[in-house]
Amino acid sequence: MAKRTKLKVLLNADKIGSSYTVMGWVKTFRNNQFLALNDGSTLKTLQVVVDFEKFDESILKRITTGAAVMATGILVESQGRGQTVELVADQIEILGDSDPEKYPLQPKKHSLEFLREIAHLRFRTNTFGSIFRIRHSAAFAIHKFFNDKGFFYMHSPIITGSDAEGAGEMFKVTNLDLDNPPKDEDGNIDYKKDFFGKSTNLTVSGQLEAELAALALSEVYTFGPTFRAENSNTSRHLAEFWMIEPEVAFNDLEDNMDLAEEMLKYVIKYVMDHNPEDLEFLENRLLQEEKQKPQNERSPMPLREKLEFCLANDFERLTYTRAIDILKNSKPNKKGRFQFPIDDWGADLQSEHERFLVEKHFKKPVILIDYPKEIKSFYMRMNEDDKTVAAMDVLFPGIGEIIGGSQREEEKRMEEMDIPKEEMQWFLDTRKFGTCPHAGYGLGFERLILFVTGMTNIRDVIPFPRFPGNAEF
Ligand code: 4AD
Ligand code: MG
Repeated sequence: MAKRTKLKVLLNADKIGSSYTVMGWVKTFRNNQFLALNDGSTLKTLQVVVDFEKFDESILKRITTGAAVMATGILVESQGRGQTVELVADQIEILGDSDPEKYPLQPKKHSLEFLREIAHLRFRTNTFGSIFRIRHSAAFAIHKFFNDKGFFYMHSPIITGSDAEGAGEMFKVTNLDLDNPPKDEDGNIDYKKDFFGKSTNLTVSGQLEAELAALALSEVYTFGPTFRAENSNTSRHLAEFWMIEPEVAFNDLEDNMDLAEEMLKYVIKYVMDHNPEDLEFLENRLLQEEKQKPQNERSPMPLREKLEFCLANDFERLTYTRAIDILKNSKPNKKGRFQFPIDDWGADLQSEHERFLVEKHFKKPVILIDYPKEIKSFYMRMNEDDKTVAAMDVLFPGIGEIIGGSQREEEKRMEEMDIPKEEMQWFLDTRKFGTCPHAGYGLGFERLILFVTGMTNIRDVIPFPRFPGNAEF
């Protein structure tokens, strides 16, 4: 094909007077003359000026919203308002037609609910173009952050033979004939005859395998898909989501908190530096959307101010015990406004409590540590008090929990929690041979993208969301 120049390059440099070929999709075509073209490299469109006397009626008729077009011409300073340069077309070729009667994306505002139903086309909208450019930047920034620090990117398995993490319900992986599975003497499905000779699942977390690597390579991280078959139909849960799990030998809980805070700020800053137009667009989108809402449901700050604020302030760090005190004596608790009232130490915190602490009480990101051992996983390190574990959850405004992590137990609690010894032999081995203090955490990637884009439904920040009752595409 002809060599194309990306719009991002064309619109950002001083290229007046030369001839260029551009390719993209038609946003609009006004007065049979002004074609707004977008190729996804940037939010901006290029105005292609089409002199209708120079082109065949048959070509002009095919320049319709959604059509794929190639245009060649000279870049000139624009006479009109709204753009600085435009391309005066010498040649136009229609690469792919789009029937304007049938194309679902009209040049008007569509609801997010409608766009979710046509997720295969929603990439073409300004909103989703911005979201997915930002998603890319954030993913890249995470790799850059860890690489620059000397961490090793570790690929944990997607299919796992262990069910030890206990992070949630798992999806079974099998190639047995489900209509006629082999049975053992007791009439149960005989997984010895299954593909792997045992029962297997999709992973809920790469942590346990990352720990094995960290106890040799010192500093590793995973970044991969994880799967949870919980029936959580919320705007914060997906059945398939991406998680970043650093694991560091010789780190304690404090080091773990420092790493998490530094990483989150780094990624937010990276997106602010690399996606200013997308952020500006999404900020205005949110302001428009929130005009419909009552004052008390609107975001306290515009998107970019919120991100700046997050960078400029230390996260509030406090123990679970102090948080319970604050919650117990809080107005909503006393007035019975929490769905789950806080009575006693030991209660598991619900999203409403987390959001109260972050949005109403401290008004900034919060790191909660030292949770009761009963409500946290077996691998978290027991504290001296024998009641709490060295856990940490990072809570963000508008989101709630964005990170969960801990310093890891080196031995003691494994016994107490009664985890299956044969199945976990490999894990226990690392505790037997040269164990050491280590810590790590898991960042839910989509929750971070919710925060930086100001979107409110997690189904809008992953290309093809999987949730109960939905696995389209
Ligand atoms: O708190 P979680 O369950 O922690 C773990 O899986 C640990 N193994 C992590 C570690 O220490 N290495 O999950 C970690 C994060 C949560 O804080 C949340 O941001 C996200 O993963 N998350 C989800 N995101 C979207 N949909 C879901 N169903 C999620 N469940 C957890
Ligand atoms: Mg958690």
